[in-house]
Amino acid sequence: MEIVLSNLHKEYTLGKTKVQALRGVSLTVKEQDFLTLAGPSGSGKTSLLNMLGCLDTPQEGEVRFDGVDANRLSASDRANLRNEQIGYVFQSFNLLPVLNVYENIELPARLGRKRHNPTELRHWIMHLIDAVGLSDRLHHRPDELSGGQRQRVAIARALVNKPKLLLADEPTANLDSETAIKILELLRRINREEKTAMVFSTHDPEIIEQCDHVVRMRDGQLVTH
Ligand SMILES: Nc1ncnc2c1ncn2[C@@H]1O[C@H](COP(=O)(O)OP(=O)(O)OP(=O)(O)O)[C@@H](O)[C@H]1O
Ligand SMILES: [Mg+2]
Repeated sequence: MEIVLSNLHKEYTLGKTKVQALRGVSLTVKEQDFLTLAGPSGSGKTSLLNMLGCLDTPQEGEVRFDGVDANRLSASDRANLRNEQIGYVFQSFNLLPVLNVYENIELPARLGRKRHNPTELRHWIMHLIDAVGLSDRLHHRPDELSGGQRQRVAIARALVNKPKLLLADEPTANLDSETAIKILELLRRINREEKTAMVFSTHDPEIIEQCDHVVRMRDGQLVTH
């Protein structure tokens, strides 16, 4: 797996105001990378994650996923790329309130084109639930879980289709520092054990301090030292 971003420019237009969210960003993410995206609010972290996740297209520049120019794919090919290769953890979790822990995690596997062997899928989901430490919360719905537990459900759900790349936008925001460190450890373990490349954003100095490969953003650009 290799995703190469070259010279990305992203400008949002809101009424008469134009915001330059990304101003010439180049970045390569390789297999098994564990990359931390740091930077103040408004610096462009979410915009960059959206590009990495092929959720948005730049006005200028190129996104190549395993050599394929993502901007030239049809809408359905892009959707398949996203579903099969990339896992997302959004800041707001986006769990479905009517589904319990197991069902929320299972959902992306039901939505994809891949046909799963039901027994294997069940074992894999149970393995994920065990990995995120929620084996005793299987039948709880999101409103019956704590913030940290919801975050862990969102991480397990993002992994159900065995993505090559996991993107997480502020996965430790709104968590106390002890829980935040636990989520960081969980991401590290998944990175090691499942060999999933990880890119996650944060502006928490305590988390940044514990990470080796930190990419810093400011005003839509990567800060080079
Ligand atoms: N949909 C949008 N329409 C207009 N402007 C936007 C939109 N999304 C983001 N922006 C602007 O683009 C800039 C970068 O935003 P982005 O969300 O990427 O920052 P961020 O680093 O993720 O910030 P935060 O840490 O607060 O989440 C900001 O100035 C923001 O106001
Ligand atoms: Mg953001």
